[in-house]
Amino acid sequence: MSEKYVMPNTLVLNHPMIEHKMTTIRDKNTSMKEFTRNVYEVSLLVAYKVSENFLLKETEIETPICKCKSHVLAKDIIIVPILRAGLGFVDGFREVFPEARIGYLGMYRDEQTLKPVEYCDRLPKDLSQFTVVISDPMLATGGSALLAIDAVKARGAKDIIFAGLVGAPEGVDAVYSKHPDVKVVLATLDEKLNEHGYIVPGLGDCGDRLYGKN
Ligand code: PRP
Ligand code: URA
Repeated sequence: MSEKYVMPNTLVLNHPMIEHKMTTIRDKNTSMKEFTRNVYEVSLLVAYKVSENFLLKETEIETPICKCKSHVLAKDIIIVPILRAGLGFVDGFREVFPEARIGYLGMYRDEQTLKPVEYCDRLPKDLSQFTVVISDPMLATGGSALLAIDAVKARGAKDIIFAGLVGAPEGVDAVYSKHPDVKVVLATLDEKLNEHGYIVPGLGDCGDRLYGKN
């Protein structure tokens, strides 16, 4: 198993440790505590790949030995979790890029229409200078991802990465066809959606498994 691009913008990691942890995450008998722990652990591996897209700029420093040129991040990073499930990635991402700011977008899928309904927006007004990392473990129909991408683009974001745990082909196609400029990093890609818009085989409702059924 190795990482591969399934679309010009979409990298699927298929890492052995991710596949191993996905077995626990997918299992319906896994407790909320273990589910959350494993999502956190996978998020560290996803964050590593997401951060390969970050741009650098040169700076000069002085080591105890001599002056030298070195590198720092060229742009500030902002993580934008889509509530609720997107929060499951935030702690792991902050381990890897701790200076990142956090902006919040809250939305849930209407169970009948499968369309996202937005209920919270706490983003900076101007995102033009940031690298924006949208986090949401589930990319199903892609409706929530598209609404989130529209929201950050409306604030001037140009450098956007969507980071997910499980994708469906339908969601991958939806993001690529509307926003081919947005980079997508997924831990794994599943077969399809079922008639209720759930990813198959998937893991069920990610928000419910992280935080409990509301
Ligand atoms: C889930 C998930 C995504 C969305 C994906 O959220 O976290 O945001 O569904 O589906 P889509 O690609 O078809 O839009 P949900 O509506 O279950 O809300 P929750 O995270 O608060 O549980
Ligand atoms: N949202 C989830 O939490 N799970 C799915 O399978 C699809 C959307």
